[in-house]
Amino acid sequence: MVLQGRRILLIISGGIAAFKSLDLIRRLREQGALVRCVLTKGGAKFVTPLSVSALSEEKVYQDIFSLTDEAEMGHINLSREADLLVVAPASADILARMANGLASDLATTALLATNKPVMVAPAMNVRMWEHAATQANIDILRSRGVACIGPVEGNMACSEYGYGRMSEVEDIVDAITKHLVPVSGPLAGRRAIVTSGPTHEAIDPVRYIANRSSGKQGHAIAAALARNGADTVLVSGPTTLPDPIGVTMVKVESACDMLAACEKALPAEIAVCVAAVADWRVADAAAQKLKMSLSAPPPLELAENPDILRILAKASNKRPVLVVGFAAETENIVANAQAKRKNKNTDWIIANDVSPKTGTFGSNTNTIHLVNRAGTVESWPTMTKDEVAERLVSRMSSHFCNIK
Ligand SMILES: Cc1cc2nc3c(=O)[nH]c(=O)nc-3n(C[C@H](O)[C@H](O)[C@H](O)COP(=O)(O)O)c2cc1C
Repeated sequence: MVLQGRRILLIISGGIAAFKSLDLIRRLREQGALVRCVLTKGGAKFVTPLSVSALSEEKVYQDIFSLTDEAEMGHINLSREADLLVVAPASADILARMANGLASDLATTALLATNKPVMVAPAMNVRMWEHAATQANIDILRSRGVACIGPVEGNMACSEYGYGRMSEVEDIVDAITKHLVPVSGPLAGRRAIVTSGPTHEAIDPVRYIANRSSGKQGHAIAAALARNGADTVLVSGPTTLPDPIGVTMVKVESACDMLAACEKALPAEIAVCVAAVADWRVADAAAQKLKMSLSAPPPLELAENPDILRILAKASNKRPVLVVGFAAETENIVANAQAKRKNKNTDWIIANDVSPKTGTFGSNTNTIHLVNRAGTVESWPTMTKDEVAERLVSRMSSHFCNIK
């Protein structure tokens, strides 16, 4: 009963995943939460007020202009009397209305009137999710501190496949629990910064230089740190991965943005630089799209990008206690990693072989070698990226126990 006495206002909007919200109500109540529900007009097309009310054992709120409801509860109290507002499923429509500050029905009015944390679990067709409008709305909501769980990848009701499925109910309950219950775990009370994914370096407003990093390893490490109690900031370049549960996401495009986000996230005890940061950017990115009609291909003059790992590992009063770098190598893996560790003054370097034959980029497995300050090399067997993350974080926990 980890959620004993916690009050959740669950807003169910109009999506095919609304049926899962019935299970969500049940699971939250099993954990002792008090769940009060608002059903949007769209939501009521997918689940009935009777089912919602029977499962929550509460009145269901639907109409902002209901005299009885306003006399009983009032839309302001509805949002203020909750510890957390959860929109699940969050339709593209309600996300757009939230991002634009609309108060066009009871749900959006409660969301605008609240002074409590808000979490959304988007659920929609993959094209709707990938649409620039939805992505822009999500970015706006995130920048305002709205926590976003999912969506996840999978088969859709419309026979398509991709990102857009609502996160599994147990993952939503987990995210809610992390939000409402003080964290515990071996790294509780410690702050960690993780960088993940590639960076995109603009050539012009539509073209960029990038690399093949998927972000899977960095995201897995951030998730494992959060699971082990660390207050984790994940600074990620563009990826199609869902946000890991329990981390603070900062989404960036370029190496310069990534450095600025990392510096903003300091101080931290742990920094894990997994991102495949571009070494160079275009010195003078064009402000307008370069035209094919140019008489010759445009020369691309490159400028060096900031070395984020070296900057974070530089001796200063803000240097994290444990700075871990990743070295993606295609030859002389361990020797290159040992040199990199010294050169960048990191505590550990995790070397991984990313030559095409390994298929490491984008795959779910990784074969790594951990090099420490003493130069000792530990070679781990091939594992899934989640297993690498869990083992690495467990090593970090022991490291902090030993230096206590
Ligand atoms: C059969 C059907 C399934 C739908 N599924 C979704 C969905 O999964 N996600 C979504 O964002 N919209 C979906 N829609 C569209 C929304 O229901 C519509 O945008 C509605 O206005 C949302 O209202 P609300 O945001 O007030 O709940 C679906 C519509 C229909 C008819």
